[in-house]
Amino acid sequence: MDLGLEGRVAVVTGGANGIGASVCDCLTAEGVKVVVADINTELAQRKAQELIDAGREALAVGVDVTDAASVKALFESVNNKWGRVDVLVNNAGFTRDMRITKMQLDDWNSVVDVILKGAFLCTREAIPYFSRQNWGRIINISSRAHLGNAGQANYSAAKAGIIGFTKAMALENGRFNVTVNAVAPGIINTEAVLRLPHYEKIREAAEKITPIPRIGEPRDVGAVVAFLASELASYVTGDVLHVTGGRY
Ligand SMILES: NC(=O)c1ccc[n+]([C@@H]2O[C@H](COP(=O)([O-])OP(=O)(O)OC[C@H]3O[C@@H](n4cnc5c(N)ncnc54)[C@H](O)[C@@H]3O)[C@@H](O)[C@H]2O)c1
Repeated sequence: MDLGLEGRVAVVTGGANGIGASVCDCLTAEGVKVVVADINTELAQRKAQELIDAGREALAVGVDVTDAASVKALFESVNNKWGRVDVLVNNAGFTRDMRITKMQLDDWNSVVDVILKGAFLCTREAIPYFSRQNWGRIINISSRAHLGNAGQANYSAAKAGIIGFTKAMALENGRFNVTVNAVAPGIINTEAVLRLPHYEKIREAAEKITPIPRIGEPRDVGAVVAFLASELASYVTGDVLHVTGGRY
């Protein structure tokens, strides 16, 4: 099936690792030129080089999505290289889990900022390209945690917030032929999850309570993002697609 993505340009924040890296793999496999946009510049360069070595088109850009000037510079770099932006994947994010009474202001701010401020700043830069082209796609990476997880007040609030942001952006930009959707993954096998102290317990529990009894792989998410970015999904907007193996 042709996804109709050949020649499109996609910016993937947090694209150097985990889910973002898999999104880069899935999009470039469809002929998309990807911008691996990550705060870890070295890792972004490594990922972009890996894609280029595989005969795909990629550009690494170091960016802090919470910094307005840095995000502006990211879009300037993309414009200088390819002169357009068609797809934005707001994926950069991390957790700082703890009970609310132990949570410091910085634990709250850093998690909420990378997820919400990051998506706001990147979307604000991308929309002018989309409206000019009368075509655009935004895919925001939420999480199953938007339903609420104990020990994740900051993360759950931000991941629920990104769904509200998705719906507002879908309403505001549909007239430009722009779709805006969220993907809510369950537990996905990335370094961020492998680093968790109770990884084995989490994996065993997930296998017991997930209808499809395994942890997700980054590619499970990357493939869904590629579909939402595609021509085939042009009448899907303001929606949330759960990639959780059926666990809610
Ligand atoms: N892994 C999971 O189980 C899971 C489940 C649901 C949702 N998610 C979400 O998916 C996204 C990716 O998660 P992952 O597991 O692949 O994590 P990861 O740590 O493997 O990758 C995240 C990437 O984001 C980058 N990043 C962090 N802060 C940044 C910033 N300020 N500016 C630019 N880049 C920044 C990191 O350098 C890293 O490369 C996150 O939003 C996460 O909340 C993950």
